[in-house]
Amino acid sequence: MPTPGDLDFSRRGVLAGGASVAAVTVVPTRATAAPGKAAAASPPTSKVAFEVNGTPHALELDTRTSLLDVLREHLHLTGTKKGCDHGQCGACTVIVDGRRINSCLTLAVMHDGDTITTIEGLGTPDKMHPMQDAFVEHDGYQCGYCTPGQICSAVAVLDEIKAGIPSHVTADLTKAPKVTASELRERMSGNICRCGAYSNIIDAMTDVAGVKA
Ligand code: FES
Ligand code: FES
Repeated sequence: MPTPGDLDFSRRGVLAGGASVAAVTVVPTRATAAPGKAAAASPPTSKVAFEVNGTPHALELDTRTSLLDVLREHLHLTGTKKGCDHGQCGACTVIVDGRRINSCLTLAVMHDGDTITTIEGLGTPDKMHPMQDAFVEHDGYQCGYCTPGQICSAVAVLDEIKAGIPSHVTADLTKAPKVTASELRERMSGNICRCGAYSNIIDAMTDVAGVKA
C-alpha cells in the first residue's frame, strides 16, 4: 500500500522523467538543424557565361537563380518584368538564341553560351526597334509591366512564322503559316494584359510584317 510520501515521490519522478524526455527530444532537433544552417550559409553555386544584348557576362551563381532574377538583380536590366513568377503572364519574356521564353521559368545556369536579348537590347528611346515604333504608332503599348514582354514576344512571333513554325491554329501543316490575326492572337496568348489593347497590338505586328490581318 503506497504512503502519501511514496505518491509525492512518484509524481515528482514522473515530472522529472517528462523533463528529461523533453530534453532528449530537443537535442536531436537542434543537432539536425545545424547542417541546414551550414547549407544555407554556402548555397551550391556554378559558373555560367552568356551574352546579354551583345555584352558578354561571366557569373558565379546560386544554381537556383532564375534567368529573370539574374537579368534584373545581377545585371540590373530591369526592362524585363516579374509579373507572376510562375510562367502565367509573359511579362518576363526574353529572346534566347532567337526563341522567346519565360525567363522566370528557367534557371540561369542552363544558359551557358547562350545569346539573350531583352527589351533593352531591341532598341533605345533614340533608336527604337521597328516593333517598338509600331507599338507606339498603333497605341499598342500599355503599362510598363506587360509591354516589354509583349514586344519581345511580338518580335519572336514574326520570326517563328517566317521560319515556318506552326502553331495550334495552323490549319495546314504542309504549308508555311501566314501572318493572320488568328495566328498572331494564338501565338501572343501567353502574354497577358488585363487592359485590353490586344487589337492594337495585332495592328502593330501586321504593320511590321507588312501585311493586312
Ligand atoms: S513573370 Fe514569368 S510568366 Fe509571369
Ligand atoms: S497594360 Fe499592362 S497589364 Fe494591361
